[in-house]
Amino acid sequence: MARCFITRTLPGTALDRLAQTHEVDVWPQHLPPTHEDLVKRAPAMEGLISLPTDPIDAELIENAPLLRAISNYAVGYDNIDLQAAKARQIPVGHTPDVLTNATADLAFALLLAVARRLPEAMAAVRAGEWLTWGPSSHLGVELANATLGIVGLGRIGQAVARRGEGFGMRVIHTDSRSTADDLASLLESADFVSLHAPLTEDTRHLIDETVLNAMKPTAILINTGRGGLVDHDALAAALKGGSIAGAALDVTEPEPIPLDHPLLDAPNLIITPHIGSATTTARERMAEIAVDNLLTGLAGEPMPHAVPD
Ligand code: GLV
Repeated sequence: MARCFITRTLPGTALDRLAQTHEVDVWPQHLPPTHEDLVKRAPAMEGLISLPTDPIDAELIENAPLLRAISNYAVGYDNIDLQAAKARQIPVGHTPDVLTNATADLAFALLLAVARRLPEAMAAVRAGEWLTWGPSSHLGVELANATLGIVGLGRIGQAVARRGEGFGMRVIHTDSRSTADDLASLLESADFVSLHAPLTEDTRHLIDETVLNAMKPTAILINTGRGGLVDHDALAAALKGGSIAGAALDVTEPEPIPLDHPLLDAPNLIITPHIGSATTTARERMAEIAVDNLLTGLAGEPMPHAVPD
């Protein structure tokens, strides 16, 4: 029986399964443990289920001499210092596939919402500004025949591409082998740019002032990947200056975004609170996979969903 720390309670019954064979300590609060809270608990941890909100860094791993398995409740794992885990031969797992459809659905919901200016139209109804059917009111853009640029054609990027094809869009993409020139040519022709690359040292602020200036002034940017992919000050300036037409972010840097951030008064911008995988189905399946990863890692067996090397 190993002592497992879970940094928040998870939906479904997966944690009950873990508790059948291990001691399970679940952080009871709505807000995540602070780094100090995590380091304080580290000496007793043998297994850990972490969330994207929890930085599992070298200091934490150093303070956890008994730690034998880390299971991240997310497909992304940029919150984990993989080198520090590898140096201790601690296996790290994540939860791919089961959240692909949920996240692609949200990317598409955001794309449609910005394209058709839904937040503005909904606000107009509540503000009593819906006085008549106006021929020139709330005009948006159509998806059919528009070009959708997918940056990062992994599982989620491909699922968004399929949705785009269903709407009659022309889909272009970059992937991990693409060069800066490939990205530049995608930006030149894309009417919608949807980000699905992982956050790494190479992709941090991939979308910066230069890139935003290279986009069409009518283009719309969607980010359901990681906030760090986009330079937020540059995006605020691009939206306010009209160098792009709109954006939707499900992820920001930091999260939550401070209420006085310049992005919050930018025009034609939607921000949602990192809900890409937030369907009951996806989150319950993620919990099952996180528990499978932890159980196998603790047993010294290969995790079914270990993070790629
Ligand atoms: C959530 O952001 C995830 O990576 O699963």
